[in-house]
Amino acid sequence: MSKLTTDVLILGSGVAGLTLAIKTARKLPDHKIMVLTKTDEGESNTRYAQGGVAAVWDLDKDNFEKHIADTLDAGDGLCKEDVVRIVVEEGPERVRELIGWGAHFDKEKNQDAYDLAREGGHSEHRILHFKDLTGWEIQRTLMEEAKKHPNIQVLEHYFALDFITQHHLGRMVIRVTPGIECYGCYALNKKNNAIDTILSRVTVCCTGGGGQVYKATTNPVIATGDGVAMTYRAKGRVENMEFMQFHPTSLYNPAGENPSFLVSEAVRGHGGILKSAEGEEFMQHYDERLSLAPRDIVARAIDSEMKKRGTDCMYLDCRHIGEKDFIEHFPTIHAKCLKIGVNPAKDMIPVVPACHYMCGGIMVDAMGRSSIQRLYAAGECSSTGLHGANRLASNSLLEALVFAHRIAQEIPEKINDWQLQNNVPDWNAEGTMEPKEMVLITQSMKELKEVMSYYVGIVRSNQRLKRALDRLYLLYQETEELYQTTSISPQLMELRNLITIAYLITRSAAHRRESRGLHFTTDYPEQLDFKEFSVL
Ligand code: FAD
Ligand code: SIN
Repeated sequence: MSKLTTDVLILGSGVAGLTLAIKTARKLPDHKIMVLTKTDEGESNTRYAQGGVAAVWDLDKDNFEKHIADTLDAGDGLCKEDVVRIVVEEGPERVRELIGWGAHFDKEKNQDAYDLAREGGHSEHRILHFKDLTGWEIQRTLMEEAKKHPNIQVLEHYFALDFITQHHLGRMVIRVTPGIECYGCYALNKKNNAIDTILSRVTVCCTGGGGQVYKATTNPVIATGDGVAMTYRAKGRVENMEFMQFHPTSLYNPAGENPSFLVSEAVRGHGGILKSAEGEEFMQHYDERLSLAPRDIVARAIDSEMKKRGTDCMYLDCRHIGEKDFIEHFPTIHAKCLKIGVNPAKDMIPVVPACHYMCGGIMVDAMGRSSIQRLYAAGECSSTGLHGANRLASNSLLEALVFAHRIAQEIPEKINDWQLQNNVPDWNAEGTMEPKEMVLITQSMKELKEVMSYYVGIVRSNQRLKRALDRLYLLYQETEELYQTTSISPQLMELRNLITIAYLITRSAAHRRESRGLHFTTDYPEQLDFKEFSVL
Protein backbone atom coordinates (compact mmCIF):
# COMPACT_ATOMS: atom_id res chain seq x y z
CA MET A 1 0.00 0.00 0.00
CA SER A 2 1.44 3.37 -0.96
CA LYS A 3 0.31 6.94 -0.70
CA LEU A 4 0.73 8.85 -3.96
CA THR A 5 0.09 12.54 -4.44
CA THR A 6 -0.63 14.72 -7.43
CA ASP A 7 -2.05 18.14 -8.22
CA VAL A 8 -4.50 16.94 -10.85
CA LEU A 9 -5.79 13.36 -10.97
CA ILE A 10 -7.45 12.20 -14.18
CA LEU A 11 -9.17 8.82 -14.36
CA GLY A 12 -9.08 7.51 -17.92
CA SER A 13 -6.89 7.83 -20.98
CA GLY A 14 -9.46 8.13 -23.78
CA VAL A 15 -10.22 11.28 -25.73
CA ALA A 16 -11.55 13.15 -22.68
CA GLY A 17 -8.78 12.17 -20.24
CA LEU A 18 -5.82 12.71 -22.55
CA THR A 19 -7.13 15.97 -24.03
CA LEU A 20 -7.60 17.30 -20.53
CA ALA A 21 -4.15 16.07 -19.43
CA ILE A 22 -2.44 17.80 -22.36
CA LYS A 23 -4.28 21.07 -21.92
CA THR A 24 -3.83 21.20 -18.15
CA ALA A 25 -0.16 20.24 -18.42
CA ARG A 26 0.42 23.17 -20.78
CA LYS A 27 -1.32 25.65 -18.52
CA LEU A 28 0.30 24.31 -15.33
CA PRO A 29 3.82 23.27 -16.35
CA ASP A 30 4.99 23.25 -12.71
CA HIS A 31 2.18 21.02 -11.50
CA LYS A 32 1.87 17.26 -11.62
CA ILE A 33 -0.87 15.73 -13.78
CA MET A 34 -1.48 12.03 -13.08
CA VAL A 35 -3.55 9.90 -15.46
CA LEU A 36 -4.78 6.53 -14.22
CA THR A 37 -5.94 3.93 -16.68
CA LYS A 38 -7.16 0.46 -15.84
CA THR A 39 -5.48 -1.44 -18.70
CA ASP A 40 -3.11 -0.20 -21.44
CA GLU A 41 -3.10 3.51 -22.15
CA GLY A 42 -4.43 2.94 -25.67
CA GLU A 43 -7.44 0.80 -24.72
CA SER A 44 -10.65 2.85 -24.58
CA ASN A 45 -13.97 3.34 -26.34
CA THR A 46 -12.23 6.18 -28.17
CA ARG A 47 -9.87 3.78 -29.89
CA TYR A 48 -12.78 2.01 -31.62
CA ALA A 49 -14.68 5.07 -32.88
CA GLN A 50 -15.33 4.60 -36.56
CA GLY A 51 -17.59 7.23 -38.11
CA GLY A 52 -15.78 10.36 -36.96
CA VAL A 53 -16.22 13.68 -35.27
CA ALA A 54 -19.07 16.03 -36.18
CA ALA A 55 -18.21 19.71 -36.65
CA VAL A 56 -19.51 22.53 -38.80
CA TRP A 57 -16.76 22.78 -41.40
CA ASP A 58 -18.03 23.61 -44.89
CA LEU A 59 -19.46 27.08 -44.30
CA ASP A 60 -20.81 27.31 -47.86
CA LYS A 61 -23.38 24.65 -47.06
CA ASP A 62 -23.45 24.22 -43.29
CA ASN A 63 -23.79 26.48 -40.27
CA PHE A 64 -24.04 26.27 -36.46
CA GLU A 65 -27.82 26.65 -36.47
CA LYS A 66 -28.24 23.52 -38.60
CA HIS A 67 -25.97 21.42 -36.36
CA ILE A 68 -27.78 22.74 -33.28
CA ALA A 69 -31.19 21.94 -34.80
CA ASP A 70 -30.10 18.38 -35.70
CA THR A 71 -28.75 17.79 -32.17
CA LEU A 72 -31.94 19.11 -30.56
CA ASP A 73 -34.10 17.06 -32.89
CA ALA A 74 -32.22 13.82 -32.12
CA GLY A 75 -32.34 14.63 -28.38
CA ASP A 76 -36.16 14.55 -28.53
CA GLY A 77 -36.85 17.58 -26.34
CA LEU A 78 -34.42 16.83 -23.52
CA CYS A 79 -31.20 18.56 -24.65
CA LYS A 80 -30.01 21.63 -22.77
CA GLU A 81 -29.99 24.17 -25.55
CA ASP A 82 -27.25 26.35 -24.05
CA VAL A 83 -24.95 23.32 -23.82
CA VAL A 84 -25.77 22.28 -27.39
CA ARG A 85 -24.82 25.76 -28.57
CA ILE A 86 -21.55 25.70 -26.59
CA VAL A 87 -20.48 22.34 -28.02
CA VAL A 88 -21.47 23.10 -31.60
CA GLU A 89 -19.90 26.57 -31.62
CA GLU A 90 -16.69 25.68 -29.77
CA GLY A 91 -16.33 22.30 -31.51
CA PRO A 92 -14.60 23.29 -34.77
CA GLU A 93 -11.79 25.11 -32.88
CA ARG A 94 -11.20 21.99 -30.74
CA VAL A 95 -11.02 19.82 -33.85
CA ARG A 96 -8.53 22.27 -35.40
CA GLU A 97 -6.35 21.89 -32.28
CA LEU A 98 -6.45 18.14 -32.69
CA ILE A 99 -5.34 18.54 -36.28
CA GLY A 100 -2.58 20.86 -35.04
CA TRP A 101 -1.35 18.05 -32.76
CA GLY A 102 -1.07 15.80 -35.79
CA ALA A 103 -4.44 14.07 -36.28
CA HIS A 104 -5.12 13.13 -39.90
CA PHE A 105 -8.59 13.27 -41.37
CA ASP A 106 -9.39 12.11 -44.91
CA LYS A 107 -9.41 14.70 -47.65
CA GLU A 108 -11.26 14.73 -50.94
CA LYS A 109 -9.28 13.25 -53.82
CA ASN A 110 -6.61 15.67 -55.10
CA GLN A 111 -8.00 18.48 -52.96
CA ASP A 112 -7.27 20.27 -49.75
CA ALA A 113 -10.86 20.08 -48.54
CA TYR A 114 -11.80 17.46 -45.97
CA ASP A 115 -14.00 14.58 -47.14
CA LEU A 116 -17.01 15.26 -44.92
CA ALA A 117 -19.27 12.28 -44.29
CA ARG A 118 -22.91 12.23 -43.27
CA GLU A 119 -24.58 10.08 -40.62
CA GLY A 120 -28.08 9.49 -39.28
CA GLY A 121 -29.92 12.62 -38.11
CA HIS A 122 -27.44 15.06 -39.71
CA SER A 123 -28.92 17.39 -42.31
CA GLU A 124 -25.46 18.10 -43.79
CA HIS A 125 -22.15 16.41 -44.49
CA ARG A 126 -20.09 17.41 -41.45
CA ILE A 127 -18.28 14.33 -40.12
CA LEU A 128 -14.49 14.48 -40.24
CA HIS A 129 -13.07 10.99 -40.31
CA PHE A 130 -9.98 8.92 -40.88
CA LYS A 131 -11.23 6.01 -43.01
CA ASP A 132 -13.26 3.88 -40.55
CA LEU A 133 -10.54 4.21 -37.91
CA THR A 134 -11.12 7.75 -36.65
CA GLY A 135 -10.90 6.81 -32.98
CA TRP A 136 -7.64 4.97 -33.46
CA GLU A 137 -6.16 8.06 -35.13
CA ILE A 138 -7.37 10.35 -32.33
CA GLN A 139 -6.07 8.03 -29.61
CA ARG A 140 -2.69 7.80 -31.37
CA THR A 141 -2.43 11.57 -31.72
CA LEU A 142 -3.31 12.25 -28.09
CA MET A 143 -0.94 9.62 -26.73
CA GLU A 144 1.93 11.08 -28.77
CA GLU A 145 1.09 14.63 -27.74
CA ALA A 146 0.79 13.69 -24.04
CA LYS A 147 4.29 12.17 -24.11
CA LYS A 148 5.71 15.59 -24.97
CA HIS A 149 4.75 16.88 -21.52
CA PRO A 150 7.10 15.77 -18.73
CA ASN A 151 4.59 16.78 -16.05
CA ILE A 152 2.06 14.16 -17.26
CA GLN A 153 2.47 10.78 -15.59
CA VAL A 154 0.36 7.94 -16.99
CA LEU A 155 -0.12 5.01 -14.62
CA GLU A 156 -1.29 1.98 -16.60
CA HIS A 157 -3.06 -1.04 -15.09
CA TYR A 158 -4.25 1.06 -12.17
CA PHE A 159 -7.92 0.41 -11.37
CA ALA A 160 -9.70 3.26 -9.56
CA LEU A 161 -11.98 1.79 -6.88
CA ASP A 162 -13.64 4.62 -4.95
CA PHE A 163 -13.49 8.38 -4.68
CA ILE A 164 -12.23 9.59 -1.31
CA THR A 165 -14.59 12.02 0.45
CA GLN A 166 -15.38 13.16 4.01
CA HIS A 167 -16.95 9.69 4.42
CA HIS A 168 -13.41 8.26 4.60
CA LEU A 169 -12.53 10.76 7.35
CA GLY A 170 -15.28 9.25 9.48
CA ARG A 171 -18.01 11.80 8.76
CA MET A 172 -21.56 10.92 7.78
CA VAL A 173 -22.14 11.63 4.08
CA ILE A 174 -25.56 11.13 2.50
CA ARG A 175 -26.89 12.18 -0.90
CA VAL A 176 -28.20 15.49 0.39
CA THR A 177 -25.13 16.37 2.47
CA PRO A 178 -23.99 19.82 1.33
CA GLY A 179 -20.34 20.43 0.39
CA ILE A 180 -19.21 16.87 -0.29
CA GLU A 181 -15.57 17.09 -1.44
CA CYS A 182 -13.35 14.70 -3.36
CA TYR A 183 -9.76 14.24 -2.15
CA GLY A 184 -8.62 11.68 -4.74
CA CYS A 185 -9.29 7.96 -4.98
CA TYR A 186 -8.29 4.52 -3.85
CA ALA A 187 -6.86 2.48 -6.69
CA LEU A 188 -5.76 -1.11 -7.22
CA ASN A 189 -2.30 -1.36 -8.72
CA LYS A 190 -2.89 -4.45 -10.85
CA LYS A 191 0.85 -5.09 -11.15
CA ASN A 192 1.34 -5.85 -7.43
CA ASN A 193 -2.29 -6.12 -6.20
CA ALA A 194 -1.75 -3.32 -3.67
CA ILE A 195 -4.47 -0.78 -3.02
CA ASP A 196 -2.90 2.67 -3.09
CA THR A 197 -4.30 5.92 -1.73
CA ILE A 198 -3.98 8.64 -4.37
CA LEU A 199 -4.44 12.15 -3.02
CA SER A 200 -5.11 15.02 -5.38
CA ARG A 201 -6.07 18.65 -5.24
CA VAL A 202 -8.67 18.08 -7.95
CA THR A 203 -9.96 14.94 -9.66
CA VAL A 204 -11.52 14.54 -13.10
CA CYS A 205 -13.49 11.45 -14.00
CA CYS A 206 -13.08 10.44 -17.68
CA THR A 207 -13.83 6.74 -17.34
CA GLY A 208 -16.10 6.35 -20.39
CA GLY A 209 -19.32 4.38 -20.81
CA GLY A 210 -20.91 1.21 -19.49
CA GLY A 211 -22.10 -0.75 -22.54
CA GLN A 212 -20.86 -3.99 -21.00
CA VAL A 213 -24.03 -4.05 -18.91
CA TYR A 214 -25.74 -5.62 -21.95
CA LYS A 215 -25.02 -8.95 -23.64
CA ALA A 216 -24.50 -7.42 -27.07
CA THR A 217 -22.47 -4.21 -27.13
CA THR A 218 -20.03 -2.44 -29.39
CA ASN A 219 -18.13 -1.25 -26.31
CA PRO A 220 -14.82 -2.91 -25.39
CA VAL A 221 -14.64 -4.88 -22.14
CA ILE A 222 -13.25 -1.89 -20.21
CA ALA A 223 -16.62 -0.10 -20.55
CA THR A 224 -18.08 -1.05 -17.18
CA GLY A 225 -19.35 2.33 -15.98
CA ASP A 226 -16.81 2.50 -13.14
CA GLY A 227 -16.74 6.31 -12.78
CA VAL A 228 -20.52 6.63 -12.70
CA ALA A 229 -20.82 3.88 -10.09
CA MET A 230 -18.01 5.47 -8.03
CA THR A 231 -19.75 8.84 -8.16
CA TYR A 232 -23.05 7.32 -7.11
CA ARG A 233 -21.37 5.52 -4.20
CA ALA A 234 -19.73 8.82 -3.19
CA LYS A 235 -23.28 10.29 -3.09
CA GLY A 236 -22.85 12.40 -6.22
CA ARG A 237 -25.75 13.04 -8.61
CA VAL A 238 -26.27 10.88 -11.68
CA GLU A 239 -28.91 11.57 -14.31
CA ASN A 240 -30.67 10.39 -17.47
CA MET A 241 -29.43 6.83 -17.19
CA GLU A 242 -32.50 5.35 -18.90
CA PHE A 243 -31.17 6.69 -22.21
CA MET A 244 -28.83 3.89 -23.25
CA GLN A 245 -28.24 4.14 -26.96
CA PHE A 246 -28.43 1.02 -29.10
CA HIS A 247 -26.55 1.33 -32.38
CA PRO A 248 -28.76 -0.05 -35.15
CA THR A 249 -26.02 -1.85 -37.04
CA SER A 250 -23.53 -4.06 -35.29
CA LEU A 251 -22.32 -6.96 -37.40
CA TYR A 252 -24.41 -10.07 -36.77
CA ASN A 253 -21.94 -12.84 -36.06
CA PRO A 254 -23.68 -16.17 -35.32
CA ALA A 255 -20.52 -17.31 -33.49
CA GLY A 256 -21.08 -14.47 -30.98
CA GLU A 257 -18.32 -12.12 -29.87
CA ASN A 258 -17.73 -9.53 -27.15
CA PRO A 259 -17.58 -6.73 -28.14
CA SER A 260 -19.85 -6.85 -31.17
CA PHE A 261 -18.19 -5.36 -34.23
CA LEU A 262 -19.67 -2.05 -35.37
CA VAL A 263 -20.77 -1.37 -38.94
CA SER A 264 -20.50 2.41 -38.91
CA GLU A 265 -23.47 4.63 -39.58
CA ALA A 266 -21.18 6.26 -42.13
CA VAL A 267 -21.84 3.19 -44.31
CA ARG A 268 -25.48 4.24 -44.50
CA GLY A 269 -24.32 7.82 -45.01
CA HIS A 270 -22.36 6.50 -47.99
CA GLY A 271 -25.41 4.84 -49.54
CA GLY A 272 -25.92 1.56 -47.64
CA ILE A 273 -29.64 0.64 -47.42
CA LEU A 274 -31.37 -1.38 -44.71
CA LYS A 275 -33.31 -4.36 -46.06
CA SER A 276 -34.90 -7.63 -45.03
CA ALA A 277 -33.42 -11.01 -45.94
CA GLU A 278 -35.72 -10.97 -48.98
CA GLY A 279 -34.20 -7.68 -50.10
CA GLU A 280 -37.21 -5.47 -49.23
CA GLU A 281 -36.60 -1.99 -47.83
CA PHE A 282 -38.58 -1.32 -44.63
CA MET A 283 -37.50 2.05 -43.23
CA GLN A 284 -40.23 3.89 -45.21
CA HIS A 285 -42.70 2.46 -42.65
CA TYR A 286 -40.88 4.25 -39.80
CA ASP A 287 -39.37 7.58 -40.88
CA GLU A 288 -39.12 9.71 -44.00
CA ARG A 289 -35.33 9.95 -43.51
CA LEU A 290 -35.25 6.18 -44.17
CA SER A 291 -31.95 4.47 -43.30
CA LEU A 292 -30.52 7.81 -42.13
CA ALA A 293 -33.12 8.59 -39.47
CA PRO A 294 -31.73 9.14 -35.93
CA ARG A 295 -30.47 6.07 -34.15
CA ASP A 296 -33.31 5.51 -31.70
CA ILE A 297 -35.78 5.30 -34.59
CA VAL A 298 -33.65 3.01 -36.76
CA ALA A 299 -32.71 0.68 -33.88
CA ARG A 300 -36.37 0.34 -32.86
CA ALA A 301 -37.40 -0.27 -36.47
CA ILE A 302 -34.85 -3.07 -36.86
CA ASP A 303 -35.85 -4.58 -33.52
CA SER A 304 -39.51 -4.46 -34.49
CA GLU A 305 -38.89 -6.00 -37.94
CA MET A 306 -36.81 -8.80 -36.40
CA LYS A 307 -39.56 -9.58 -33.89
CA LYS A 308 -42.29 -9.48 -36.55
CA ARG A 309 -40.37 -11.75 -38.91
CA GLY A 310 -38.82 -13.96 -36.19
CA THR A 311 -35.31 -13.41 -37.60
CA ASP A 312 -31.96 -12.99 -35.86
CA CYS A 313 -30.84 -10.01 -37.94
CA MET A 314 -31.69 -7.60 -40.75
CA TYR A 315 -29.38 -6.57 -43.60
CA LEU A 316 -27.42 -3.63 -44.92
CA ASP A 317 -27.20 -3.67 -48.69
CA CYS A 318 -23.98 -2.06 -49.97
CA ARG A 319 -23.62 -4.04 -53.18
CA HIS A 320 -24.34 -0.98 -55.32
CA ILE A 321 -21.53 1.07 -53.71
CA GLY A 322 -18.77 -0.63 -55.63
CA GLU A 323 -16.03 -2.74 -54.14
CA LYS A 324 -13.15 -0.26 -54.64
CA ASP A 325 -15.10 2.63 -53.15
CA PHE A 326 -16.24 0.52 -50.17
CA ILE A 327 -12.73 -0.70 -49.41
CA GLU A 328 -11.31 2.80 -49.73
CA HIS A 329 -13.77 4.24 -47.21
CA PHE A 330 -14.31 1.27 -44.91
CA PRO A 331 -11.23 -0.97 -45.01
CA THR A 332 -11.66 -2.32 -41.48
CA ILE A 333 -15.34 -3.13 -41.91
CA HIS A 334 -14.62 -4.79 -45.26
CA ALA A 335 -11.86 -6.95 -43.78
CA LYS A 336 -14.03 -7.95 -40.81
CA CYS A 337 -16.96 -8.91 -43.06
CA LEU A 338 -14.71 -11.11 -45.22
CA LYS A 339 -13.44 -12.78 -42.05
CA ILE A 340 -16.94 -14.04 -41.23
CA GLY A 341 -17.65 -15.02 -44.83
CA VAL A 342 -19.59 -11.95 -45.99
CA ASN A 343 -18.37 -10.10 -49.09
CA PRO A 344 -20.02 -6.64 -49.07
CA ALA A 345 -19.63 -6.43 -52.86
CA LYS A 346 -21.76 -9.55 -53.32
CA ASP A 347 -23.64 -10.19 -50.08
CA MET A 348 -25.85 -8.04 -47.91
CA ILE A 349 -24.22 -7.42 -44.50
CA PRO A 350 -26.18 -9.02 -41.60
CA VAL A 351 -26.75 -6.45 -38.85
CA VAL A 352 -28.38 -6.31 -35.45
CA PRO A 353 -28.71 -3.52 -32.83
CA ALA A 354 -26.23 -3.52 -29.94
CA CYS A 355 -25.77 -1.30 -26.92
CA HIS A 356 -23.43 1.48 -27.93
CA TYR A 357 -23.49 4.63 -25.81
CA MET A 358 -24.52 5.91 -22.38
CA CYS A 359 -26.28 9.27 -22.87
CA GLY A 360 -26.74 9.87 -19.15
CA GLY A 361 -24.09 9.73 -16.45
CA ILE A 362 -22.46 11.96 -13.84
CA MET A 363 -24.50 15.16 -13.73
CA VAL A 364 -22.26 18.13 -14.62
CA ASP A 365 -22.78 21.79 -15.41
CA ALA A 366 -21.50 23.67 -18.44
CA MET A 367 -17.97 23.76 -16.95
CA GLY A 368 -17.91 20.01 -16.24
CA ARG A 369 -18.35 20.42 -12.46
CA SER A 370 -20.09 17.47 -10.79
CA SER A 371 -22.29 17.81 -7.69
CA ILE A 372 -19.23 16.85 -5.60
CA GLN A 373 -16.73 19.67 -5.05
CA ARG A 374 -13.23 19.15 -6.51
CA LEU A 375 -14.65 16.45 -8.80
CA TYR A 376 -15.22 17.15 -12.50
CA ALA A 377 -16.33 14.75 -15.23
CA ALA A 378 -15.92 14.74 -19.00
CA GLY A 379 -16.62 12.41 -21.90
CA GLU A 380 -19.06 9.53 -21.98
CA CYS A 381 -19.24 9.11 -18.18
CA SER A 382 -20.70 12.62 -17.86
CA SER A 383 -24.16 13.96 -18.54
CA THR A 384 -23.78 17.50 -19.83
CA GLY A 385 -27.23 17.91 -21.37
CA LEU A 386 -25.88 17.78 -24.93
CA HIS A 387 -27.49 14.49 -25.89
CA GLY A 388 -30.86 14.71 -24.14
CA ALA A 389 -32.85 11.56 -24.78
CA ASN A 390 -30.75 10.39 -27.73
CA ARG A 391 -27.26 11.30 -28.95
CA LEU A 392 -26.72 12.53 -32.47
CA ALA A 393 -24.08 10.45 -34.27
CA SER A 394 -20.47 11.62 -33.92
CA ASN A 395 -21.31 14.25 -31.30
CA SER A 396 -19.58 12.26 -28.57
CA LEU A 397 -15.95 12.80 -29.51
CA LEU A 398 -16.82 16.46 -30.04
CA GLU A 399 -18.40 16.77 -26.60
CA ALA A 400 -15.34 15.19 -24.95
CA LEU A 401 -13.00 17.64 -26.70
CA VAL A 402 -15.09 20.68 -25.78
CA PHE A 403 -15.61 19.75 -22.12
CA ALA A 404 -11.98 18.71 -21.60
CA HIS A 405 -11.03 22.17 -22.85
CA ARG A 406 -13.53 23.90 -20.56
CA ILE A 407 -12.35 22.01 -17.49
CA ALA A 408 -8.73 22.75 -18.41
CA GLN A 409 -9.61 26.46 -18.47
CA GLU A 410 -11.08 26.35 -14.98
CA ILE A 411 -8.63 24.14 -13.06
CA PRO A 412 -5.66 26.56 -13.26
CA GLU A 413 -7.85 29.36 -11.92
CA LYS A 414 -8.88 27.34 -8.89
CA ILE A 415 -5.98 25.00 -8.15
CA ASN A 416 -4.59 27.21 -5.39
CA ASP A 417 -7.88 27.06 -3.50
CA TRP A 418 -7.54 23.30 -3.11
CA GLN A 419 -5.00 21.65 -0.80
CA LEU A 420 -4.14 17.97 -0.38
CA GLN A 421 -6.07 16.26 2.40
CA ASN A 422 -3.39 14.51 4.40
CA ASN A 423 -5.25 12.56 7.07
CA VAL A 424 -6.90 10.03 4.76
CA PRO A 425 -6.64 6.45 6.08
CA ASP A 426 -5.32 3.56 3.99
CA TRP A 427 -7.81 1.20 2.36
CA ASN A 428 -9.17 -1.21 4.92
CA ALA A 429 -8.91 -4.81 3.71
CA GLU A 430 -9.30 -6.43 7.13
CA GLY A 431 -11.17 -9.73 7.28
CA THR A 432 -11.11 -10.40 3.53
CA MET A 433 -9.74 -13.53 1.83
CA GLU A 434 -8.68 -14.49 -1.69
CA PRO A 435 -11.81 -15.51 -3.67
CA LYS A 436 -12.05 -19.31 -3.88
CA GLU A 437 -14.47 -19.54 -6.80
CA MET A 438 -14.29 -17.13 -9.71
CA VAL A 439 -17.48 -18.75 -11.04
CA LEU A 440 -19.45 -16.74 -8.47
CA ILE A 441 -18.36 -13.60 -10.27
CA THR A 442 -18.45 -14.79 -13.88
CA GLN A 443 -21.89 -16.38 -13.55
CA SER A 444 -23.36 -13.29 -11.90
CA MET A 445 -21.96 -11.20 -14.73
CA LYS A 446 -23.74 -13.43 -17.27
CA GLU A 447 -26.99 -13.23 -15.32
CA LEU A 448 -26.74 -9.45 -15.09
CA LYS A 449 -26.32 -9.06 -18.84
CA GLU A 450 -29.23 -11.43 -19.52
CA VAL A 451 -31.52 -9.53 -17.16
CA MET A 452 -30.66 -6.19 -18.76
CA SER A 453 -30.91 -7.49 -22.33
CA TYR A 454 -34.27 -9.20 -21.88
CA TYR A 455 -36.03 -6.76 -19.59
CA VAL A 456 -34.39 -3.33 -20.03
CA GLY A 457 -33.50 -3.34 -23.74
CA ILE A 458 -34.86 -1.34 -26.68
CA VAL A 459 -38.50 -1.96 -25.72
CA ARG A 460 -39.51 -1.87 -22.03
CA SER A 461 -42.65 -2.30 -19.93
CA ASN A 462 -43.58 -1.89 -16.26
CA GLN A 463 -43.61 -5.63 -15.78
CA ARG A 464 -40.22 -6.16 -17.36
CA LEU A 465 -38.69 -3.33 -15.34
CA LYS A 466 -40.12 -4.69 -12.10
CA ARG A 467 -38.78 -8.13 -12.86
CA ALA A 468 -35.37 -6.63 -13.65
CA LEU A 469 -35.29 -4.70 -10.36
CA ASP A 470 -36.17 -7.84 -8.39
CA ARG A 471 -33.40 -9.85 -10.07
CA LEU A 472 -30.91 -7.01 -9.69
CA TYR A 473 -31.58 -6.80 -5.96
CA LEU A 474 -30.63 -10.45 -5.56
CA LEU A 475 -27.45 -9.99 -7.58
CA TYR A 476 -26.66 -6.87 -5.54
CA GLN A 477 -27.00 -8.69 -2.22
CA GLU A 478 -24.87 -11.63 -3.32
CA THR A 479 -22.18 -9.38 -4.76
CA GLU A 480 -22.04 -7.12 -1.69
CA GLU A 481 -21.51 -10.21 0.44
CA LEU A 482 -18.61 -11.25 -1.80
CA TYR A 483 -17.22 -7.71 -1.65
CA GLN A 484 -17.28 -7.70 2.16
CA THR A 485 -15.56 -11.05 2.51
CA THR A 486 -13.11 -11.43 -0.39
CA SER A 487 -10.13 -9.40 -1.48
CA ILE A 488 -10.62 -6.88 -4.26
CA SER A 489 -10.17 -7.94 -7.88
CA PRO A 490 -10.94 -5.96 -11.06
CA GLN A 491 -13.54 -8.61 -11.97
CA LEU A 492 -15.38 -8.21 -8.68
CA MET A 493 -15.25 -4.42 -8.88
CA GLU A 494 -16.50 -4.41 -12.48
CA LEU A 495 -19.39 -6.68 -11.54
CA ARG A 496 -20.24 -4.44 -8.60
CA ASN A 497 -20.05 -1.31 -10.77
CA LEU A 498 -22.16 -2.85 -13.52
CA ILE A 499 -24.84 -3.86 -11.03
CA THR A 500 -24.99 -0.21 -9.94
CA ILE A 501 -25.20 0.93 -13.57
CA ALA A 502 -27.96 -1.62 -14.24
CA TYR A 503 -29.86 -0.40 -11.20
CA LEU A 504 -29.52 3.24 -12.26
CA ILE A 505 -30.73 2.48 -15.80
CA THR A 506 -33.68 0.44 -14.57
CA ARG A 507 -34.70 2.84 -11.79
CA SER A 508 -34.57 5.82 -14.16
CA ALA A 509 -36.53 3.86 -16.77
CA ALA A 510 -39.18 2.97 -14.20
CA HIS A 511 -39.48 6.64 -13.18
CA ARG A 512 -40.06 7.84 -16.72
CA ARG A 513 -43.76 7.32 -17.38
CA GLU A 514 -43.60 8.18 -21.07
CA SER A 515 -41.71 7.12 -24.20
CA ARG A 516 -39.06 9.55 -25.30
CA GLY A 517 -35.92 9.20 -27.39
CA LEU A 518 -34.13 5.99 -26.51
CA HIS A 519 -36.60 5.06 -23.78
CA PHE A 520 -39.64 3.24 -25.18
CA THR A 521 -42.17 1.53 -22.93
CA THR A 522 -45.29 -0.26 -24.09
CA ASP A 523 -47.12 0.96 -20.96
CA TYR A 524 -46.67 4.64 -21.83
CA PRO A 525 -46.13 4.82 -25.59
CA GLU A 526 -46.85 8.58 -25.74
CA GLN A 527 -44.70 11.57 -24.74
CA LEU A 528 -45.67 13.78 -21.83
CA ASP A 529 -45.91 17.55 -22.29
CA PHE A 530 -43.49 18.42 -19.52
CA LYS A 531 -39.89 17.50 -20.05
CA GLU A 532 -37.54 16.63 -17.24
CA PHE A 533 -34.21 14.96 -16.56
CA SER A 534 -34.29 11.93 -14.28
CA VAL A 535 -31.82 12.62 -11.48
CA LEU A 536 -30.84 9.93 -8.98
P1 FAD B 1 -13.09 6.18 -23.22
O1 FAD B 1 -12.48 6.48 -24.52
O2 FAD B 1 -13.92 4.97 -23.13
O3 FAD B 1 -11.93 6.07 -22.15
C1 FAD B 1 -12.21 5.61 -20.85
C2 FAD B 1 -10.90 5.45 -20.12
O4 FAD B 1 -11.16 5.27 -18.73
C3 FAD B 1 -10.10 4.25 -20.55
O5 FAD B 1 -8.75 4.63 -20.60
C4 FAD B 1 -10.31 3.24 -19.42
O6 FAD B 1 -9.27 2.34 -19.24
C5 FAD B 1 -10.39 4.19 -18.25
N1 FAD B 1 -11.08 3.64 -17.08
C6 FAD B 1 -12.36 3.18 -16.99
N2 FAD B 1 -12.62 2.76 -15.75
C7 FAD B 1 -11.49 2.95 -15.02
C8 FAD B 1 -11.11 2.69 -13.69
N3 FAD B 1 -11.95 2.13 -12.81
N4 FAD B 1 -9.86 3.01 -13.29
C9 FAD B 1 -8.97 3.56 -14.16
N5 FAD B 1 -9.27 3.81 -15.45
C10 FAD B 1 -10.51 3.51 -15.87
N6 FAD B 1 -18.37 8.65 -31.00
C11 FAD B 1 -18.25 9.60 -31.95
O7 FAD B 1 -18.41 10.79 -31.67
N7 FAD B 1 -17.96 9.24 -33.23
C12 FAD B 1 -17.78 7.95 -33.61
O8 FAD B 1 -17.49 7.67 -34.75
C13 FAD B 1 -17.92 6.95 -32.63
N8 FAD B 1 -17.79 5.63 -32.96
C14 FAD B 1 -17.82 4.70 -31.96
C15 FAD B 1 -17.58 3.36 -32.30
C16 FAD B 1 -17.53 2.40 -31.30
C17 FAD B 1 -17.28 0.97 -31.66
C18 FAD B 1 -17.75 2.78 -29.95
C19 FAD B 1 -17.69 1.76 -28.86
C20 FAD B 1 -18.02 4.09 -29.62
C21 FAD B 1 -18.05 5.06 -30.63
N9 FAD B 1 -18.30 6.40 -30.33
C22 FAD B 1 -18.20 7.34 -31.30
C23 FAD B 1 -18.44 6.83 -28.95
C24 FAD B 1 -17.09 7.41 -28.48
O9 FAD B 1 -16.05 6.65 -29.01
C25 FAD B 1 -16.99 7.41 -26.97
O10 FAD B 1 -18.13 7.95 -26.40
C26 FAD B 1 -15.79 8.25 -26.54
O11 FAD B 1 -14.65 7.82 -27.20
C27 FAD B 1 -15.63 8.18 -25.05
O12 FAD B 1 -14.43 8.79 -24.70
P2 FAD B 1 -14.04 8.90 -23.18
O13 FAD B 1 -12.73 9.56 -23.13
O14 FAD B 1 -15.16 9.48 -22.43
O15 FAD B 1 -13.94 7.39 -22.67
C1 SIN C 1 -20.61 5.03 -36.11
O1 SIN C 1 -19.57 5.11 -36.76
O2 SIN C 1 -21.68 4.62 -36.55
C2 SIN C 1 -20.57 5.46 -34.69
C3 SIN C 1 -20.70 6.90 -34.61
C4 SIN C 1 -21.08 7.33 -33.23
O3 SIN C 1 -21.27 6.51 -32.34
O4 SIN C 1 -21.19 8.54 -33.04
